[in-house]
Amino acid sequence: MKEEQTFNSERALIYEKNSRISIPTYDTLFTMVQSYYRAQLSDKAASLLVIGAGGGNELAAWGPSNPQWTFTGIDISEEMLKIAKNKSVQLGLESRVKLIHGTIDDLPLPDSKFDAASCILVLHFIDDIQEKLKLLRTIKDHMKEGAPFVLVSAYGERDSAELRDRLNVWKSFWLDAGSDALKVNELVNKGIMKISFISENQIEGLLAESGFANITRFYSTGIFAGWICHAE
Ligand SMILES: C[S@@+](CC[C@H](N)C(=O)[O-])C[C@H]1O[C@@H](n2cnc3c(N)ncnc32)[C@H](O)[C@@H]1O
Repeated sequence: MKEEQTFNSERALIYEKNSRISIPTYDTLFTMVQSYYRAQLSDKAASLLVIGAGGGNELAAWGPSNPQWTFTGIDISEEMLKIAKNKSVQLGLESRVKLIHGTIDDLPLPDSKFDAASCILVLHFIDDIQEKLKLLRTIKDHMKEGAPFVLVSAYGERDSAELRDRLNVWKSFWLDAGSDALKVNELVNKGIMKISFISENQIEGLLAESGFANITRFYSTGIFAGWICHAE
């Protein structure tokens, strides 16, 4: 096996394991989103835009059982995109998957707009509120009117007792998975507290300001939540 493949599979394994500790309902989330899209899109051919496609989990969860769907995945991490590429090859999805290295600004102007889009576990990595808004607005501009959008992000008022309680639940997932308290505190201080938390109201406000309607929270686990809505 080539070094690059070994590297990718090691990275992939760590990512797969850690995301399921951080979010014990991680796989269920993708199943729920698939059901939502299926209900919205019926059996028609549909183009899906996947923001933050690195790791390829959206492609793997939704690609094989929905042969009428095509995917455009965008990610700023070349390493993560390699994992997504490997996964799409392994699953025989290459003909239905296009991967773009960069941000949504690198997405070419479309011949036609997307039938659905997702932005799962990305928004909290963008610090600046105006940049978050710009991302959501640009996603919306690339979507057909009425198309379903799913956003999943960490959320909460930094320094609030409510977020502290949810962080303690998040820590308990890691402790139960066998990590010691020192390592878990380090994960919080070096990782979690560096991500950009904004409140649920702010997230819903950003979605509305970006041109999404019927905004509904459908999912919540630990420090993360998910919203469904439609491009106006
Ligand atoms: C936690 S991973 C989530 C990957 C995938 N959506 C999932 O749920 O398994 C976050 C991904 O978002 C990517 N990312 C961060 N900021 C981004 C941006 N502005 N545009 C596109 N991708 C971004 C990272 O490189 C990373 O691959």
